[in-house]
Amino acid sequence: MSVRSRIGVGLVGFGTVGTGVARGLLQRSRILRHSAGSRIVLRRVCDQDFRRSRGLRLPAGLATTDPAKILRDPDIQIVVELIGGIEPAKTFIKEALRRGKHVVTANKALLAEASQELFTEARKANVELGFEASVGGGIPILKALREGLLANHLDAILGIVNGTSNYILTQMREKSLSFHEALLEAKRHGYAERNPTLDISGTDAAHKLVILTLLGFGRQVRLSDIHIEGISALSNADIEYADELGYCIKPLAIAKEVDHELEVRVHPTLLAKSHLLANVDGVYNGIYVHGDLVGAQLFYGRGAGQNPTASAVLSDIADIARRLAQGAVRTFRIGYPNQRILRLRRMDAIESRYYMRFQVIDKPGVLARIAGVLGRHHISIASVHQKERRFARVVPVVMMTHDAKEANVRRALAAIDRMGVVKSHTVAIRTEAPRVK
Ligand SMILES: NC(=O)c1ccc[n+]([C@@H]2O[C@H](COP(=O)([O-])OP(=O)(O)OC[C@H]3O[C@@H](n4cnc5c(N)ncnc54)[C@H](OP(=O)(O)O)[C@@H]3O)[C@@H](O)[C@H]2O)c1
Repeated sequence: MSVRSRIGVGLVGFGTVGTGVARGLLQRSRILRHSAGSRIVLRRVCDQDFRRSRGLRLPAGLATTDPAKILRDPDIQIVVELIGGIEPAKTFIKEALRRGKHVVTANKALLAEASQELFTEARKANVELGFEASVGGGIPILKALREGLLANHLDAILGIVNGTSNYILTQMREKSLSFHEALLEAKRHGYAERNPTLDISGTDAAHKLVILTLLGFGRQVRLSDIHIEGISALSNADIEYADELGYCIKPLAIAKEVDHELEVRVHPTLLAKSHLLANVDGVYNGIYVHGDLVGAQLFYGRGAGQNPTASAVLSDIADIARRLAQGAVRTFRIGYPNQRILRLRRMDAIESRYYMRFQVIDKPGVLARIAGVLGRHHISIASVHQKERRFARVVPVVMMTHDAKEANVRRALAAIDRMGVVKSHTVAIRTEAPRVK
């Protein structure tokens, strides 16, 4: 591998993140050079349309609409893909890798779907694929998992990794907005895309969980292995009742080892207000990691946005440039496969304490009937809270359970929801407690 003192970068996708990366490469050359030990030069920027103003003037001759100008340029060693989506990003990255170029991307959707394919190409070509910006925006969580925590056996990664969902739930709690009002607010502030489906459905968080599981547990899980629930069904009532009981509701991506099995799931979760993640509010991300040597750690920061995401992309570029300057390319290795994990745990088999809200007719004996059904399904009740009795005919009854099996909870709630005195679909939200080891 030749040792280089000048590294050429080609950028495809001059959008939100691409503009931040171009600005960083043009305006932070000294700090990058200090870290990389070589000059990093932005040689080309490709986008399909340059008419839109980005608030950044590119030096003459850099802009192109032809990606081949990047792929075929022998003076470009690092290609940065910031188009997003599956195609043409995938074809473009594979072509760059095949041509012996190192690639940096923030494309979590693509990595969740095709990481093995891309790693194989990178390995064959003996080049690097950097993707720090794909999880947690500006938080260097992947570097922490790959380097800082490498001697640990991890048993839990719990992440608030979607800022849009977290912002919406925070607004619902702090301002008593409905889900739809909070979503509009997120759009107004530019925290939600015009089509926010990937964010609020939990899919974006699941993309990131695939990547976290790969690095933290050395396991390649598919998106279809992950149980995914979004936040759109949450009501203000549940957020309020949870608050009264000492909890907050957070959109959590969970990968954890339980009895030699790995659980991977994304869903709104009740966290005690004392949990390290409980104060991760607004658009912020927080990733809680538990390792056998370090214990609990929390990584916190801005999980998206032009500058935070560009910060992670620039760090990958500088890392690769440094290794190129030293002639020491490092091809990707997944995290050390946790030997204790034998298989993925089926969702039916997970155990959790549950928050349950029943909407029932207010008459004697109803609680006893519900408790009876729960008992027959091996679910024991930790506490019962009856709300707003006054003169309403239908009242909410909130229960916290002790640890119960998901399959039992589903069966019990199906039976309870068939009872004539239960007037709407019962809400059940899982809880997560901190690891105490
Ligand atoms: N935004 C964030 O905060 C953030 C955070 C973490 C990760 N990411 C990831 O970073 C990537 C980029 O996100 P972004 O928010 O910067 O997206 P964006 O603002 O939509 O930028 C994408 C840019 O690529 C251009 N483009 C699309 N197809 C192209 C093609 N075939 N050839 C050349 N240019 C093309 C787009 O042009 P048009 O506008 O004309 O389509 C747009 O200018 C995505 O993978 C995203 O998931 C983003």
